[in-house]
Amino acid sequence: MTPTKPENQVTLSRRGLFLGAAAGAAAGTALPARAAPPDVSASADPMQTRHLFYGSGPQAGVATLPQKHAMVMTFDLTTQDARELQTLLARWSAAIGVLMEGAPVGQVEPARASAVALDTGEALDLGPAALSVTIGLGPRVFGPELGLAGHRPAKLRDLAPLPSDNLRPEFTGGDLSLQACAEDPQVVYHAVRVLTRIAKRTGAATVRWTQMGFGRASAGKGQVTPRNLLGFRDGTRNIREPDEFDAHVWSREGPAWQHGGTYQVLRKIEMGIENWDTDRVDDQNAVFGRHKASGAPLGGHHEFDTPDFTAQGADGAPVIAEDAHIRLVAYEHNEGTRILRRSYNYTSGLNAVGRLEAGLMFISYQNDPAHFEKLQRKLGAGDALNEYISHVGSALFWVPPAAPEGSYIGAPLFE
Ligand code: HEM
Repeated sequence: MTPTKPENQVTLSRRGLFLGAAAGAAAGTALPARAAPPDVSASADPMQTRHLFYGSGPQAGVATLPQKHAMVMTFDLTTQDARELQTLLARWSAAIGVLMEGAPVGQVEPARASAVALDTGEALDLGPAALSVTIGLGPRVFGPELGLAGHRPAKLRDLAPLPSDNLRPEFTGGDLSLQACAEDPQVVYHAVRVLTRIAKRTGAATVRWTQMGFGRASAGKGQVTPRNLLGFRDGTRNIREPDEFDAHVWSREGPAWQHGGTYQVLRKIEMGIENWDTDRVDDQNAVFGRHKASGAPLGGHHEFDTPDFTAQGADGAPVIAEDAHIRLVAYEHNEGTRILRRSYNYTSGLNAVGRLEAGLMFISYQNDPAHFEKLQRKLGAGDALNEYISHVGSALFWVPPAAPEGSYIGAPLFE
């Protein structure tokens, strides 16, 4: 039987809120110098794999091996009272802790049958399914209205305008973000549905935009590199090792409690699928600088061969073209700049004129948003891929470290 957590774990009393804040403060000083990803209770059955929400390192959902399904959501704050945001973060955290255990948030059928249950029930019996829900805080959380400006993470701001931005307001911005990922789409949907209900009940935030994703597009250790909707392996040269996370993903700036945080970039990138599908495969390979079937760099034989950017063909032209995607963004050509890509494919079906609406919900994590901007400036200006894609959505969030048991995400903000 699925264990049930009492509803009072999510309807925290005022006293509970402040106890949580105190625990957060204590944890702030106790954070290890080198933040490790939260531990995981792995299982041969992915539906029984459980990730830990509470911990002294980063939140789950960043270094976590990408799960198959995802939903990202951003919310607008509808309050100028920091205590309402505090209540929302405390209630979200308590609920996420329960959801990641695979348990319902309170009784699905409360003893009082006339009660309206918070948990909507559709994930009962599905197990934890490796669910992770990651909370992000946008720049306006640290604006003048809420009085939290003194806690602003060192590098949090709006993303700069970038070449080939084609941003639409309905997919851009937001004050809070939730990235929910799991092995089962219904578990993902259930989590964001319950968390949206909590936001509604607290009255602190309303949904701004939402995108479901599938076919994890970033490969971790032991995973076969998945493919994006252009048919190419995506995630071959990604960050994987703990020392790479330390160097490029986890932030070490600001007060100790902020260490182990990171910056989340969301970019909704539409693909011109029909246009791409009429292109010759050798042209497609040239766009990325890799072979479509094997994922090997052009001039190489195997997926994980190091690309040889100096190799020239018989005609003297570079084997990996000057405007090839991987040449432009390789860390060798960007002063060592690296970002973690944790993207998902998406489709919204056919639009009114029968065109396939599909693309990449690009998600990256880095310890400085300027690293994303640096790469995207180059891509936006000169990537051969630009003929087939359009960046239609964008947002930036700071992802605080995980909360210790008994506390909640962002608790030290409210001391
Ligand atoms: C729809 C948009 C995009 C598609 C389809 C795409 C696809 C790919 C593919 C197939 C690869 C080669 C395999 C790999 O190493 O993962 C790759 C590599 C890479 N992409 Fe993208 N990408 C997109 C957007 C972006 C954006 C917006 C950025 C960052 C601004 C980015 C950064 C990178 C980086 C850093 C690499 C590794 C390059 C290397 O070191 O070899 N990509 N991408």
